[in-house]
Amino acid sequence: MIKFGKPLSMCLCLLAVWACVPKAAKEGDKETENRVEALLAKMTLQEKIGQMNQMNYSGNVEEIAGLIKEGKIGSLLNLTDPELVNKLHEIALKESRLKIPVLISRDVIHGYKTIFPIPLGQAATFNPEIVEQGARIAAVEASSDGIRWTFAPMVDLSRDPRWGRIAESFGEDPLMNAVMGEAMIRGFQGEKLSDPSAIAACAKHFVGYGAAEAGKDYNSTFIPERLLRNVYFPPFEAAAKAKCATFMVSFNDNDGVPSTGNSFILKDILRDEWKYDGMVVTDWASATEMIAHGFCKDRKQAAAIAVNAGVNMEMVSGAFIESLEALVDEKKVSITTIDDAVRNILRLKFRLGLFENPYVATPQAVKYTEVHLEKAKETAEQSAILLKNADNVLPLSEKVRTIAVVGPMADAPHDQLGTWCFDGEKNQTQTPLNALRKLYGDKIRVIYEPGLMYSRDNNKAAFHKAIAAARQADVVVAFVGEESILSGEAHSLADLSLRGAQSDLITALAQTGKPLVTVVMAGRPLTIGKEVDESAAVLYMFHPGTMGGPAIADLLFGKAVPSGKTPVTFPKMVGQVPVYYAHNRTGRAPTGEETLIDNIPLEAGQTSLGCTSFHMDAGFGPLFPFGYGLSYTAFAYSNLKLSAAKLNTRDTLTVRFELANTGKYTGVEIVQLYVRDHVGSVTRPVKELKGFQRVSLEPGEHKTLIFTLPIENLAFWNRDMKKVVEPGDFTLWVGTNSEEGLSADFEVIE
Ligand code: BGC
Repeated sequence: MIKFGKPLSMCLCLLAVWACVPKAAKEGDKETENRVEALLAKMTLQEKIGQMNQMNYSGNVEEIAGLIKEGKIGSLLNLTDPELVNKLHEIALKESRLKIPVLISRDVIHGYKTIFPIPLGQAATFNPEIVEQGARIAAVEASSDGIRWTFAPMVDLSRDPRWGRIAESFGEDPLMNAVMGEAMIRGFQGEKLSDPSAIAACAKHFVGYGAAEAGKDYNSTFIPERLLRNVYFPPFEAAAKAKCATFMVSFNDNDGVPSTGNSFILKDILRDEWKYDGMVVTDWASATEMIAHGFCKDRKQAAAIAVNAGVNMEMVSGAFIESLEALVDEKKVSITTIDDAVRNILRLKFRLGLFENPYVATPQAVKYTEVHLEKAKETAEQSAILLKNADNVLPLSEKVRTIAVVGPMADAPHDQLGTWCFDGEKNQTQTPLNALRKLYGDKIRVIYEPGLMYSRDNNKAAFHKAIAAARQADVVVAFVGEESILSGEAHSLADLSLRGAQSDLITALAQTGKPLVTVVMAGRPLTIGKEVDESAAVLYMFHPGTMGGPAIADLLFGKAVPSGKTPVTFPKMVGQVPVYYAHNRTGRAPTGEETLIDNIPLEAGQTSLGCTSFHMDAGFGPLFPFGYGLSYTAFAYSNLKLSAAKLNTRDTLTVRFELANTGKYTGVEIVQLYVRDHVGSVTRPVKELKGFQRVSLEPGEHKTLIFTLPIENLAFWNRDMKKVVEPGDFTLWVGTNSEEGLSADFEVIE
């Protein structure tokens, strides 16, 4: 029998969204356009330029109020006091000549007060529905303080865990970044932007920012056009189609051209190809940073280049407001360019309903509500990735009477919130230690000995206490990882091993002979091969947010069952980076036995025969592949059937298979669909993710599942830089991760 669970229908829908490339994004509705034009006609050049200026809230209310009166501020960043927001709106609406409201903005990245898992953790859920719900909650909380524009989602896919901002991404895959980005946009923007709880979203950072050389933040990228189009553009194109209200340019220069001055991406692609009618903002001072790049000689030239390239609003550096008037006089910037920029800004303000009512009702009791906390917990549970579970040590059995809770992340209320957490408060965080005591303290004895105070701590003086605690316990749970400040913007790393003496702590605990469960909380994949070997079980959480503690406690005791999968490949060692599943096929792909460095005889003669593309000291594969994650239960795939063996490019392939829960727990499996295009006019990835579903099964239950794959989804930008499906042979896989699965072949004909 074919059963369509909710997740399946939802995912089919997502596939459909991904598949259809809508025609031109429609112009805003007529009435809004008329209002924009009417207002624009009344504006002086200075007032227009004022709209293009975004200022950081300095705390100097008088100065800001004065500038608003003069019409010199289009948007204010980082103001979170609703009373003051209302006061400034009143000044704009009553005392400025044209009564244009100011747009209040803030980075609300993974929650406002109630903090959800970092975006990388949200991606691990493979659940766009829960990501959308989290963004909705963030919007409700943030808008209650007057914030109507957030700088999220970040859809910069990244294949480099050294890059600190991988924490803020949805991982390495274009489809995943597209689907999760769309979900966040829907959540932030709600049903309509004019709803007072809607906040405008911002797809950032356009484009390529996650490919920074050596994973160093802000560094140059070298992404050729075909790779941009096949890999880095799709999440942004999906955001544009999802009517994401704004776009932000990235800091990096790609092949020598900083995004802030790149008319190819901002005009040819965003406006002409994607027909985007939203607003484009610089990143923080990225216009004037073009001087440091050596791309502009001064602030005036930076303003001209940015505006002429297609930027509409400048974040904080003030070069637009200081130079655009002169640049228009000198005919270096046309009035049409200014008008177009201002149209995009005004259109957004009209769509947000700010002209009707910019005020926020105060006070509103919408922060940290029970519903919000419960959703944050559910998201954290779904984000947990079980990397190892030898002898089914998890979930902890009824026989466990005493647990030793060890490690610097067991009770780290600030750090478990993760990066980009301006407004979440650590006194609201529920840590694993608290949660274990509160939720399970009546059944078990919890002995807490952290051993180390924080993740970088090298002081082993308290190790003996942690070891003594382990000896008294039936099981040891070690909480290790990264403090939140070790990932995020400007926090890149060259070494991805556990910091401080954490690795030694794991070894010391393992040597007690007690079953060791290691829980990692981090902002990126870490190179933890040794610690995985030493532990009986490993549960990986990308910083899980406010409710991480109760989520982990319930996972440890089996009240919740892990279902998360890796949204990014885990390297064995940093030298493997970039290591990602969808790499192109080389002429010498690794096959057969790995010949590792210690297998090479002394004074072996030089030969390249039989040698393949791999590292002699790391072997063929990563530590964990993309899409990997275990469950307490077990799943079996069978009976893969395709609706046809030959299809044409307008057909849709139906992929049918069976999934059974062969274990003892009710659990969710994330089933994944990958496709390989065997021969292309350019070399193609070994496989690409084309769909995924979350499927819940009771023990013993089995379901027939379906993926529908429109053949047009196999299109790529080919040698002629055309997006086409090239006829030929394909293989698809359905399975539990990017390396395992049932496979079948099909052919696409003209
Ligand atoms: C970041 C952006 C962020 C902006 C405003 C910049 O440094 O790159 O992602 O939205 O600051 O805080």
